Amino acid sequence: DKKITIAIDGFSSTGKSTLAKQLARHLGYVYVDTGAMYRAVTLYAMQNGLIGNDFFNREGLIEHLDDVTLQFLYNPVLEFAEMYLNEVNVEKEIRTLAVSQLVSRVAEVPQVRHKLVEQQKHMGEAKGVVMDGRDIGTVVFPNAELKIFMNASPETRAQRRFKELTELGQVVTYDEVYKNVVERDYMDTHREDSPLVKADDAIEMDNSNITKQEQLQKVIDIVNKML
Ligand code: C5P
Repeated sequence: DKKITIAIDGFSSTGKSTLAKQLARHLGYVYVDTGAMYRAVTLYAMQNGLIGNDFFNREGLIEHLDDVTLQFLYNPVLEFAEMYLNEVNVEKEIRTLAVSQLVSRVAEVPQVRHKLVEQQKHMGEAKGVVMDGRDIGTVVFPNAELKIFMNASPETRAQRRFKELTELGQVVTYDEVYKNVVERDYMDTHREDSPLVKADDAIEMDNSNITKQEQLQKVIDIVNKML
């Protein structure tokens, strides 16, 4: 049985994780949400007074990076892997707008990226993996057999994210969410270390106007031709 590596990159809230999860389930592959890892490091920095809305102790975070342990543990009830930070389930905490507002600053730090990229490469060693993020097809798995780059208009993405957060019971406004989507796009594409960019050999998909089901089917058709 041939197994491949699938890299899914793109802007925030383009539905990367939904597609990646469904695809992994369909193929019996492992799904890795790399954004969750950057979010967990950000949560660690918040909890330890290393970052806030108006300060960032970069050096302090770099110094403490060895104290940050990240794990994905499979939850059989929810049927997906949840993020653990130093043995504590942080799956809920990492999805808040507060974390979204700080994560791109943490993700800019080369030492943070180095640590997480090493871990990600290790998780994908055996192939049969679907990984989503910003630099998977360019940095983590430049040799991935299939690379997808996802996009959608900022309005569509902010609407989706707003709906998601509201359904989780978080009190946020559409304007705040829209602003966060645009700010993260800017920071993620302009940072020096591994900026978000479409790999030359990635297939670009804009899903503003197609359903999740149609999109999944398109990708499954592509994968089936490769296997
Ligand atoms: O995918 P998600 O929106 O959860 O990612 C949160 C943030 O983590 C991104 O906005 C980006 O700053 C950072 N990130 C990254 N590289 C990745 C995945 C996420 O820099 N591979």
